[in-house]
Amino acid sequence: MQRLFTGLQPSGALHIGNYFGVLKPFLDTYEKYESFLMVADYHALTTLKNPIELKKNIRDVVRDYVAVGIDPKKATIFQQSQVLEHTELTWIFNCLVTKPFLELAHAYKDKEARGLDSNMGLFDYPVLMACDILLYDTDVVPVGQDQKQHVEYAREIAAKFNNAFGQTFKEPKEMILKSAGIVPGIDGKKMSKSYGNTIPLFGTQEEITKTVMSILTDSGGESPENVYNIHRLFVDESDLAPLYKANKGKYKASKDLLIQDIEMAVAPMRERRASISDADVDRILKEGSEKARTIASAKMLDVRGKIGVAL
Ligand code: ADP
Ligand code: TRP
Repeated sequence: MQRLFTGLQPSGALHIGNYFGVLKPFLDTYEKYESFLMVADYHALTTLKNPIELKKNIRDVVRDYVAVGIDPKKATIFQQSQVLEHTELTWIFNCLVTKPFLELAHAYKDKEARGLDSNMGLFDYPVLMACDILLYDTDVVPVGQDQKQHVEYAREIAAKFNNAFGQTFKEPKEMILKSAGIVPGIDGKKMSKSYGNTIPLFGTQEEITKTVMSILTDSGGESPENVYNIHRLFVDESDLAPLYKANKGKYKASKDLLIQDIEMAVAPMRERRASISDADVDRILKEGSEKARTIASAKMLDVRGKIGVAL
C-alpha cells in the first residue's frame, strides 16, 4: 500500500477554504492509502507565540479532523513536536540546503511582504516540512495549490541527500484536487484567515448567516459571482446554474439558498465535533505519535549511519 502524508497547522478555526482545499480531498482518498495526518505545531510556532492558544488549537484541529469524518483507526493522527526526529532531521537537512535555495520560497516571501517577523523558523519552514514528508517514505502529499512548492522542496531535498549519502529518501508527489482549486473568500480573493474573508467551517448558524450576508456582490451584474463561486462547492453546478438563472438580480435569495446549503453540510459535522472530549483527543494523539515515532526513529537510524555520526 502506498503512503499518504499531510499536515495542517493548528493555527485557529478552520474555514471552508481549508475544508475544500485539504480536508475533503483527504477524506475522499485517505482510505486507499496508509495515511498519516500530522498536526504541524512546530510550524505554527513560527507565527504563534501564545502557549494557551497553541495548546487549544492543537486539540481543536484534531477534533476538526475527526468531526469531518476522518477515522483515527484508519489514519495515523499525530503531533509533530511529539516525534523529535522531525527537528533532528531538520538540522541535518539545513547543513545541505543553501540560503539562495530557500530564498526562492513563495510562502516566505509572501509572509515577509505582509510584515510577519522574519524569524529563522519561518525561513526554514520548507525544510521542516520536507522532514515531515520524507521521514515516512511518503508517496503522495495532498495539499492545496499554495503548498505545491513546498512538496517540490521536499523532492529536491530528498534528491540532494540521496546524491550526497546514497539512496535513503523516497521522492514524494503532491496531490492537488482539481475540482476544489483555490476557494474564494467573501471578497472574491483567496479565502484566508490572514485576509479576514473566511466562512468558518464550524461556525454557528448565526455566524454562517452573518458571513454569507457580507459576501461582496457587485451592483451591475445579474448573477452574484462571489456567491455562486462559493455555492458551487456545496451544490453540483448542473443544479445550481438554473437556480441562479431563476433568481437573476435577486442577490438575497441566492444568499439564503447558500446559507441553507452550507448549514445542511456542516450541521452533522458540528454535532459530531461537540461529542469529542479532550480525553478522546489526547488518546488519539498519544497513540498516533507512538506509531509515527516508530517509523521515524527507524529512518533516523539509517540517516545517522549514512552521514557518519552513528557510534
Ligand atoms: P490560511 O490561508 O487561512 O492561513 P492555511 O495557510 O492555514 O490557511 O492553510 C491550510 C491548508 O488549507 C493549506 O494546505 C492550504 O492550501 C489550504 N487552503 C487554505 N486556504 C485555501 C483556499 N482558499 N482554497 C483552497 N485551499 C486552501
Ligand atoms: N505547510 C502546511 C500548511 O500550511 C502544513 C504542513 C506541515 C504540511 N507539514 C506538512 C502539509 C507536510 C503537508 C505535508 O498547510
